[in-house]
Amino acid sequence: MALLEIHDLHTSYGAIKALRGISFQVGQGQVVSLIGANGAGKSTTLNTISGLLKPTSGRIIFDGENITGWRADRVAAAGLIQVPEGRQIIATMTVMENLLIGAYRRQGKADATLDEIFQRFKRLYERRHQKAGSLSGGEQQMLAVGRALMAQPRLLMLDEPSMGLAPLLVNEVFNLISSIKSQGIPILLVEQNARKALQIADYAYVLERGAVVRDGNAAQLRQDTDIIAAYLG
Ligand SMILES: Nc1ncnc2c1ncn2[C@@H]1O[C@H](COP(=O)(O)OP(=O)(O)O)[C@@H](O)[C@H]1O
Ligand SMILES: [Mg+2]
Repeated sequence: MALLEIHDLHTSYGAIKALRGISFQVGQGQVVSLIGANGAGKSTTLNTISGLLKPTSGRIIFDGENITGWRADRVAAAGLIQVPEGRQIIATMTVMENLLIGAYRRQGKADATLDEIFQRFKRLYERRHQKAGSLSGGEQQMLAVGRALMAQPRLLMLDEPSMGLAPLLVNEVFNLISSIKSQGIPILLVEQNARKALQIADYAYVLERGAVVRDGNAAQLRQDTDIIAAYLG
């Protein structure tokens, strides 16, 4: 049984059917990517899994438990942690305060993790007393990921972590994802940058208009002429 199983998920915004029966899985230790054009339903999928949106039907099974319809705080407490699109760090709080928010459920147990995060992100350590709003776009993305790691995720969901970043920073973000993967934390990665996503993922699903239209090993999809034409051209 996979760590996360999505079965025939439907989610609507009023009359707009954003997800039309999506199914996929994330196994232990895997990086699974959802790729697709703007508007395909990637964020809606993550937001439904994390409990920010309620599905109209379908099932979300996490570690054998049916979590469909759970509130977002309960989903997060179960270890499914999302880094939302656009990062959403708190600009007026310091870097350190933003990180500690990620650990608010783990009262008194955050210090070791905070040390680890600062080891990993030297630049965040140097800027720990600065307001998060003063960080560069790349540093804010590091902070958003660092905050998620403070919660000690059992599965990390990243929504377009490379969006809006300069190419050099895009590489840095993907290096970071690699290092999280090598720690054994499973990742559900949503990306418009299909080329990068397919380099790092084990398995990928292609979304179009709220449905999965293709799936396969990332290495195979990278060689696929249809995928190359549509997403890697
Ligand atoms: N808050 C919203 N209200 C109405 N429609 C929305 C809302 N958010 C997304 N949608 C629609 O749902 C579909 C999927 O959007 P989204 O999940 O954001 O796509 P992606 O993340 O792949 O770009 C799109 O047609 C989009 O216009
Ligand atoms: Mg999106």
